[in-house]
Formats: sequence, C-alpha cells, structure tokens
Amino acid sequence: MQALKVLSTEEKEALDSPRITSDFTQSDFLGKVYIESYGCQMNFADSEVVTSILINKGYGTTSNIAEADTILLNTCAIRDNAENKIRHRLQAFKAIKAKKPSVTIGILGCMAERLKTKLIEEEKLVDLVAGPDSYRDLPNLLDQIENGQKAINVFLSKEETYGDIEPVRLHSNGVGAFVSIMRGCDNMCSFCVVPFTRGRERSRDTASILNECTQLYYNGYREINLLGQNVDSYHYVNTETNESINFAQLLEKTAQINPDLRIRFSTSHPKDITDEVLYTMQKYDNICKNIHLPAQSGNNRILELMNRSYTREWYLGRIQAIRNILGEDCGISHDIIAGFCSETEEEHQDTLSLLAEVQYDFGYMFTYSERPGTPAAKKYPDDISDDVKSKRLSEIIALQRIHSGIRNERLIGRVEKILVEGNSKKSDLHHFGKTDSNKVVVFPKKSEKIGDYVHVKILSCTTGTLLGELVDN
Ligand code: SAH
Ligand code: SF4
Ligand code: F3S
Repeated sequence: MQALKVLSTEEKEALDSPRITSDFTQSDFLGKVYIESYGCQMNFADSEVVTSILINKGYGTTSNIAEADTILLNTCAIRDNAENKIRHRLQAFKAIKAKKPSVTIGILGCMAERLKTKLIEEEKLVDLVAGPDSYRDLPNLLDQIENGQKAINVFLSKEETYGDIEPVRLHSNGVGAFVSIMRGCDNMCSFCVVPFTRGRERSRDTASILNECTQLYYNGYREINLLGQNVDSYHYVNTETNESINFAQLLEKTAQINPDLRIRFSTSHPKDITDEVLYTMQKYDNICKNIHLPAQSGNNRILELMNRSYTREWYLGRIQAIRNILGEDCGISHDIIAGFCSETEEEHQDTLSLLAEVQYDFGYMFTYSERPGTPAAKKYPDDISDDVKSKRLSEIIALQRIHSGIRNERLIGRVEKILVEGNSKKSDLHHFGKTDSNKVVVFPKKSEKIGDYVHVKILSCTTGTLLGELVDN
C-alpha cells in the first residue's frame, strides 16, 4: 500500500482516482483500447495483463478516451461507494456513445463479477462484461460484439493465474512494479465480497514469478511489490520436482535476485503471518521492513462476527513478534472497519485502544459498507447508523494521525536509504522516494537520477511526509 498520509474513506476515494492506460504504439489494426482501473493494486496489475493480451491480438492502447474504439473500466466492488463511482462514470460515457455509436464499452473486474448480466440489463450502454478470470477470452468477447451481440464471461477458475503472460507496465515510473503471486481468497471474512468476485485462492508458479522479477530487474526496475489477498498462504507445488514453496521461501528467492532489488509485499493476514517470514525479512536488507497487517477491529466479539479467525491477543502477539524480530523501526500499517454490525461504543473503544497499543505508522480506515450476498449481509443487520459510523471513523482517523506524526518524528535526525522514484508532486526542484519502512521522503535534487539509491538526512515531517536533504554515504 503506498498512500502518503492517513486517509479517511473520503480522502482515499478522492485519491483513488482511476489509473489510465498510456499510449502504446504498436500495430492497432483492431482499434484503440482505453482502460480506466479502479480498486486495489491487484486490479491495476490485472489491467497490465489485459493490455498485454489485447496488444498481442492487434489492439493498440490510448490514454485519450476521445480516440478510443473500446473503453474498458476495470472495477472494484469492495464498498458501495466504489460501485457508485463506476455508475457515475458510465453516465458520463453516454455522451461519448451518442457521438460515436460504434464505441464498445466494457466492464471488467470485481463489479463485473458481482453483478454479471445485471450490469448489461441495468446499464444499457454496456456491451461487454468480463470477470477477473476471463481476460484471456477478451479478444473473443470483443469479436462477438463486432457481430452485433452483447458479450459476457464471468466464469471463475480454480487454476487461472495468468502466470505466463508478461504484463505491459502501464502504471509504472520505471522503478517499481507490482507482481501478482496469487489470486482469489478462501478466507470468507463475513463482510468481504472478494471471495465472491475473485474466487478460490490459487498460487502462481514460482518460476514464472521469479522470471518476471528478474526481467524487471534487468529492465531497470528496483522495487517489486508482491501481491496477493493473503500472501502468507502462498503455496506452490512444482509437479515435476515435487518441491513445495511457501511464502517465506518465495520471499527469499526474490530477495536473492539482486541486493539492489527492493522487495515489498501485501497483504499479510494476522492469522497466517509466520515467524519464518519475519526471520527471512530480517536476513535480507533488500526485503523492506514494512508490514501491512489489517486488524479490522480491536474487539474479540466483533472479530468473531467478522470471521477473521484471530483474537485481539493473537494479533498483539504477532505485533510483538514483528517488534522482537525486526525491531522498533519496522513500519506497521493497518486496515480498520468502523461500525460493523452491532458494534457497541465499548467495542469501538477497544479498536481505539488497539491503535494506542500498537502505534501504527499508517492506516486505511473505512466505515462498514454492507455487500449483498456476503455472510454478514445474510446474518447480521447493518444496524449502526451512518452518523455513528462516521463519528467512530473520525475518532479512529484522528488517533491514527497522532500516531503517524509520532512515528514520523522518530526519524528526524536520522539518515535513511531512499530509492528515488520521481519528481515531488509539488516541485520539480525536489525528488521523492521511500524509506525502507515505506514512508515518503521529499528532498531537494542534486545530481541523482530516478532509480538511484541515495542517503537522505531527515530534517522535519508532517503526518504524511518526511522532508530531508541528501548526504554522502
Ligand atoms: N485481503 C486483505 C484485504 C482486502 S480488502 C485482508 O484480508 O486484509 C481491503 C480492505 O477493505 C479490508 O482490509 C477491509 O478493511 C476493507 N473492507 C473490505 N470489505 C469491506 C466492507 N464491506 N466495508 C468496509 N470496508 C471493507
Ligand atoms: Fe476479504 Fe478476508 Fe479475503 Fe481479505 S482475507 S480478501 S478481507 S475475505
Ligand atoms: Fe476491489 Fe476487487 Fe480489489 S473488490 S479491492 S478490486 S479485489
């Protein structure tokens, strides 16, 4: 997770502006495709797979929606507002379709999988619906539309990992890349739509992951983000050698590609993260010391209703293990849901006290949004009013802001190794990059280039960003 500061749901939605395909000039005899991607990093990574599949068939891509022959929205269904954003976007496409009736409009991703044919019935201008496991079929689906039909494929696979497809890097600065190591989720947290939209958990072939990471390194990339809904349950068995690889072993193999290749990963699940993973992180300097460990709640009754399979005490035990093995400097971030079904004021206070006990560096915080068809929607009434949910969320955000400030201030006066990622958003005279612990640092430029490692002395900070100056090694 890469946001720069403590975000409320609303701020996050605002920042979550879609990612758009860049132009890719190759043969485009089948027309130009424009893709907007919403949701999590896995969706962004999927859009890079989709682009690769379409380019190989003879489509070109464009970042200019006006010149597109096909418009694809890769969507998210995690909360109601994620879907509302797509519905609004579709309204805006009406004008485009009126001007250019030949344009094809397709919905990909988790909202496509959740709503299936309903999307075509409800939103008349949608021509194509494709779920996360059907992207290899996109060229065929687009052919069907050419013949005047609507096209849909929402089949969920138990095997598909797109492991053999080389993604076309659309969302990259040439320094960092996302690499999917698994798909789907078997956990069935009661609030969550992901098991329904992404299907069963499956791990990608280790060799194809290592091959992709190695290629990225030789193409100049210096940071890899290994992605999965629950990376700690990565498990791949090579059927030829019978070798079985778990996440700690995969992490070690990626770290060994080159010491100058930084490795990050998300998301860890508190019930599954092992000491073996923590010791592997300790062993390799290039595995970044940062762990995203969603808590969701600090109260045991709520955690049980959420079906998270751990208690507050277990969670705190894992935090202790992180601190013992990786030290106080390891960055730790969280996800919290405020106002889950039947949550009392005291139970909300338990979440605040969890925050106080851990003192996280960063967090993603949300109000509970009921998702149709999930176990929580079937079993528990969504009975906390919007006002109470919002009040609880603001308290959580306010406390997290204080902790982010404290955790950032600890670094003032220290020298941190930074991978230079680009120009600062606010000034061309400054570069920005991240610390090992995933904190953004802005500093005045000298002769360093994007993709270099530099040492920066931290001079001051806000709750979201560190400010510093370059020093000699
Ligand atoms: N696989 C990751 C999280 C994936 S979804 C994990 O298990 O930690 C990202 C975050 O969205 C979740 O951690 C949760 O905090 C939030 N989320 C998921 N479903 C939600 C819902 N129905 N309402 C509000 N937030 C939700
Ligand atoms: Fe959703 Fe839980 Fe799976 Fe995360 S682990 S994707 S919250 S079901
Ligand atoms: Fe959203 Fe699907 Fe990711 S629901 S958060 S895009 S897995």
